[in-house]
Amino acid sequence: MKNLPLPRLDEPSDLRDCLMPYCRLNLGEVWTDGVHRVGCLDAANPDHAKLLSNGVESTLAVHDPPYNLVAFKERSVEEFVRWCEAWVKNSNHELSSNAALYLWLGADQNNHYQPLPDVMLMMRESGFVSRSLLTMRNQRGYGTQKNWMAVRQELLYYIKGNPIFNIEAEYTDIPKILRGYYKEGSTPFKRGVAKKV
Ligand SMILES: C[S@@+](CC[C@H](N)C(=O)[O-])C[C@H]1O[C@@H](n2cnc3c(N)ncnc32)[C@H](O)[C@@H]1O
Repeated sequence: MKNLPLPRLDEPSDLRDCLMPYCRLNLGEVWTDGVHRVGCLDAANPDHAKLLSNGVESTLAVHDPPYNLVAFKERSVEEFVRWCEAWVKNSNHELSSNAALYLWLGADQNNHYQPLPDVMLMMRESGFVSRSLLTMRNQRGYGTQKNWMAVRQELLYYIKGNPIFNIEAEYTDIPKILRGYYKEGSTPFKRGVAKKV
């Protein structure tokens, strides 16, 4: 994206003018087939979060925000964290009392692994309880003569209340057999199984 930049589509540009006639949703609008709802919304706007929920509490929120890397609009870490705090709060409001929240994040190894640690600190005050930190193998760039290859993306798993953790849907039978993931001598860890949606 750095080498072949597309113009931002939320700002005036020729490309935006060409694409707009094909866009069926404008900002603040929601499409529904009666079951699912897809919105052109600002996650940091509490009214927009309400529009998406439409009065129905969810049990799962999966967030994949821009990671505040230079390929997107870069903000200061403080600004980025404040922005994350806003949509986490909105999510919390629209989730039921027993719910899970997943949060994809990157960690910039050239800048103190930002924004991961500061977002984690912010989450301490969010009302959610931390449950797991999953790593997805995802190569970004190349190794160099002086550093390791960047190959990871983080998935933070939080809960509120006591949501169902459906082991029927998990990728391994080991929890069912061992009544847990770990047992001395066993290596149930599989690589590359987390899938981005
Ligand atoms: C890392 S990408 C998500 C990619 C997506 N999960 C996928 O697999 O295609 C981050 C997305 O967040 C969206 N985004 C940025 N600011 C937003 C906001 N305030 N509200 C909702 N979405 C936003 C961007 O438009 C971008 O599509």
